[in-house]
Amino acid sequence: MQEFELLCKFLLRLEGKVVLITGGARGLGECMARMFCKHGAKVVIADIRDQQGLALQDTIGVQFATYVHCDVTKEDDVENAVNIAVSKYQKLDIIVNNAMQIDDATPSILDNDVSEFERVLRVNLTGPFLGIKHAARVMIPEKKGSIVNVGSVCSSIGGVATHAYTSSKHGLIGLTKNAAADLGKFGIRVNCLSPYFIANDAGKEFFKLDEEGCLKVYSNLKGVHLMEEDVAQAALYLASDESKYISGHNLAVDGGFTTINPIFGVFSQS
Ligand SMILES: NC(=O)c1ccc[n+]([C@@H]2O[C@H](COP(=O)([O-])OP(=O)(O)OC[C@H]3O[C@@H](n4cnc5c(N)ncnc54)[C@H](O)[C@@H]3O)[C@@H](O)[C@H]2O)c1
Repeated sequence: MQEFELLCKFLLRLEGKVVLITGGARGLGECMARMFCKHGAKVVIADIRDQQGLALQDTIGVQFATYVHCDVTKEDDVENAVNIAVSKYQKLDIIVNNAMQIDDATPSILDNDVSEFERVLRVNLTGPFLGIKHAARVMIPEKKGSIVNVGSVCSSIGGVATHAYTSSKHGLIGLTKNAAADLGKFGIRVNCLSPYFIANDAGKEFFKLDEEGCLKVYSNLKGVHLMEEDVAQAALYLASDESKYISGHNLAVDGGFTTINPIFGVFSQS
């Protein structure tokens, strides 16, 4: 019996959990929604892509997934998404702040427009702030919860993407640490997950790469390509009780990209 229970725990790592995923209608968010449901969770998909979100809800099944229109830059929308999770499933255990936007790459900061900078900051940083605030509102009385913010390698190094995106993702690490300090006394964990380049639609669109180009992207870890499923697996770990004593952490899913400088040293790669 004990072995059977252990096996169930392994197969259904989010059994009975209620999860809200922002930006859940496509890309990594969609992948997490599908994976988390397979692990026994009920998922609320919050996005502005209504057609894709509703189609995903129907594919997963309305008994497991609910789509809600939610622009993460609008506090009323975020508050409503959290309230829908609670009214439909009676609680909220986990929020994944995953929604993002990015501006076009330009050759110099002189070509950057302040309104574009602020648009990206609003989605990528104000969005998670609102997500944490309203998730905490319902998690605090329960004295538990797991908050996962989706960062990037741009959360810890410069030069990979635009000024706006890099600033927003660096800011997200600060927000993660501060929220972890604030909410720890209520048993709520706050972590960040920072992937390297994923060869999905968003990654290809931004770097203007086709399938072949994606295979040529530099990786410290040779012969392995980062897939949405790999990142979703890491999110599953941070979301679940398996990481019950991890908080304020930034988990890099980057094959060592942000910790290794291959340009000079005994292992330098030509
Ligand atoms: N793709 C990559 O290479 C890569 C690398 C590192 C980190 N990331 C991070 O992974 C996460 C997911 O990215 P992705 O690759 O799946 O991108 P994506 O563009 O496929 O998905 C982002 C989702 O966010 C939604 N969204 C945008 N603005 C919104 C708003 N105002 N309110 C609600 N939803 C909104 C979009 O509609 C979309 O469904 C992001 O946080 C991104 O920064 C991606």
